[in-house]
Amino acid sequence: MKILLLGKGGQVGWELQRALAPLGELVALDFDSTGELCGDFTRPQEVAASVKKVAPDLIVNAAAHTAVDRAEAEPELARLINATTPACIAAEAAALGAHLVHYSTDYVFDGSGAVPRDESAATNPLSVYGRTKLEGEQLIAASGATHLILRTSWVYAARGGNFARTMLRLAKERDRLTVISDQIGAPTGAELLADVTAHAVRMLRAQPALGGLYHCVAGGETSWHGYARHVIEHARAAGHDIRVAEDAVEPIPTSGYPTPAARPLNSRLDTRRLRTAFGLALPDWQQGVDRMLAEIL
Ligand SMILES: NC(=O)c1ccc[n+]([C@@H]2O[C@H](COP(=O)([O-])OP(=O)(O)OC[C@H]3O[C@@H](n4cnc5c(N)ncnc54)[C@H](OP(=O)(O)O)[C@@H]3O)[C@@H](O)[C@H]2O)c1
Repeated sequence: MKILLLGKGGQVGWELQRALAPLGELVALDFDSTGELCGDFTRPQEVAASVKKVAPDLIVNAAAHTAVDRAEAEPELARLINATTPACIAAEAAALGAHLVHYSTDYVFDGSGAVPRDESAATNPLSVYGRTKLEGEQLIAASGATHLILRTSWVYAARGGNFARTMLRLAKERDRLTVISDQIGAPTGAELLADVTAHAVRMLRAQPALGGLYHCVAGGETSWHGYARHVIEHARAAGHDIRVAEDAVEPIPTSGYPTPAARPLNSRLDTRRLRTAFGLALPDWQQGVDRMLAEIL
């Protein structure tokens, strides 16, 4: 199998390089890849031409405009990267008969209520990022390409900056921390997403009818405040020099931390469809976070 991976340098893209490698010949591109192939999503026609040139059996797109607040100020760029170029890739995939994997987000929802949403729940994005990701989903679904769209949330990886690293730095510097406690979701490791992708595409190759939209997040739920406390207490227990006291990590509402983009309060996603269709288990979020902490601490 020939695989084209786009966005190889992102959190999920990096892990996909590992997880997809055993499945076949892997061509991996980033936005600044040089040579005759283009992986820059601001150039849809050149990316589409590159897909045609590689003629893969499977395309995995991990590239995205993920800067949620910045997207409010650059909606056209976000749309190009999150919707227009993925649609061009999907059109090429359909023409080639290639399968396409793409990732989307809980930010397609408005976050009302308190129950986990399944794939049939009504969308209503609150931000430019959410709207452009939803448009990307819809264009791919309409392309005729056999596809998997995995909606996920709160993605972290050991590599690069992440929420846990920021909390650890602040916990070493400050006496008191305030963290949002009314957004509820599941921190999901890039490793888990990449491993699920590798399993799912093998089944998709054999059973194209499995194609479609799936929710894919780690098990359990927490708030950013719960996540921060977990990370800080893990580091304290491991003997790290943590300045902030346990009871000085204080919960605040989203309204106490204004940002350019609105975020959903309820980011719970129901993953039953994915687990049933592909025979997979999704471990609780603490398992992946603890592994990540073991790597970065
Ligand atoms: N991160 C999250 O919390 C989260 C939550 C839900 C869903 N998702 C979805 O999961 C997928 C993977 O996200 P991630 O967490 O791995 O994000 P990420 O680390 O930001 O990776 C996205 C990659 O796309 C690249 N990119 C940016 N502009 C590009 C362009 N013009 N052309 C080509 N590539 C470009 C980024 O490069 P630079 O880093 O150099 O900009 C980065 O390597 C995305 O579809 C995202 O929407 C993420």
